[in-house]
Amino acid sequence: MRHLSVPSHETERWLAFCRAKGWLDGTGVVALEGDRRGLPLTEAAPSDAADVWQGNAVVDVEPRAKGPAHWRERLPQELHHLPSTFWPSAYEIQGDVLMVKVEPEVEPHETAMARAMLEQLPNVRLVCADDGVEGEFRVRQLRPLLSSDGSMSTRTQIREHGVSIWVDPSKVYFSARLSTQRLETLEAMKRFRKSLGRRLVVADPYAGVGPSLPLLLAEPDLVQGYLVGDLNPEAVELLSLNLDHWVRGASVFAPATVVCEDALNWNQRPEFLGSTDVLLVNLPHNSLDHLSGLMPLFRQLDRSLLRGWAIVERTLLSACPQRIHDAVSEANGRCEDVSVEEIKGFSSTRCFVVFQTIIAWD
Ligand SMILES: C[S@@+](CC[C@H](N)C(=O)[O-])C[C@H]1O[C@@H](n2cnc3c(N)ncnc32)[C@H](O)[C@@H]1O
Repeated sequence: MRHLSVPSHETERWLAFCRAKGWLDGTGVVALEGDRRGLPLTEAAPSDAADVWQGNAVVDVEPRAKGPAHWRERLPQELHHLPSTFWPSAYEIQGDVLMVKVEPEVEPHETAMARAMLEQLPNVRLVCADDGVEGEFRVRQLRPLLSSDGSMSTRTQIREHGVSIWVDPSKVYFSARLSTQRLETLEAMKRFRKSLGRRLVVADPYAGVGPSLPLLLAEPDLVQGYLVGDLNPEAVELLSLNLDHWVRGASVFAPATVVCEDALNWNQRPEFLGSTDVLLVNLPHNSLDHLSGLMPLFRQLDRSLLRGWAIVERTLLSACPQRIHDAVSEANGRCEDVSVEEIKGFSSTRCFVVFQTIIAWD
């Protein structure tokens, strides 16, 4: 059966493409040699050398045999007596890295579990035990269990909104949950650009690997320059790598500054003072506390856009707008409007909110 052979890190993109065209057969992706994946093609898919495949070969291989519906069915026979409730019921995948919480009673069988998962999920390269979040950078403690290609590296690439992003879940915080928020940041900045009538300088001092940036940088005539950074050196390494890919061939941004520094010290750098039009504040446990220290970054001549994310006790939610007003007026600014909206599904006692305001500097 004809399969499109693609590099494994491009599997998601090609799956989406073939699915949208109606060229994807339902037999499932097969693993091919050389870290490639075979996507089963229907009769309707174009001929093997068509330009649309962008140089990827179309190969004839056996379709994937209809296998078990769940990875547990691939466990060795001697573990079949254990009830399904014994095994983890959920896992998370970032790129080709699967992360799963392993309870102490499962640990003796974790390698067998990882092998079953790798067999079931051909797009997964590495299975890791997730021992929880730790430290000031809130990164996960990951224990690599088994890899399909021998590499135990947790560095991997994800796709979001059509863009590739290098991430490393054992070294840098990244959450796909805010993906819709990143689209909304783009829309908010486009509206703000329209009201200001010029390109904008954006600051993202808690950028992590930089997921908020590619959509902004790709939007024509939106960004004049950027100031981005993170306190975690591992984040800054991936942020720089990502920026190299995202701005390649694009118009020159000025400033184009990447720093590894505590955001609260940014106001000690003369070149940062009064430099930005848009400030993103994504340190949810501390965002509101940090606001005052970040105000000097705004170009306090025109209007500015502040957008951030915070975790607040539900009982303190109604006090949030006032905290934002206070930080802005201490800096001699005036909030034209403040919105604080809850992003659903966090916890019953605490809320995850997105806040936004346009600041006037009279
Ligand atoms: C919640 S993450 C957000 C990362 C990224 N913006 C995203 O959406 O994936 C917060 C980031 O802030 C960084 N960080 C923590 N304290 C910081 C500080 N004082 N100054 C700068 N960055 C800090 C962490 O290393 C982490 O990458």
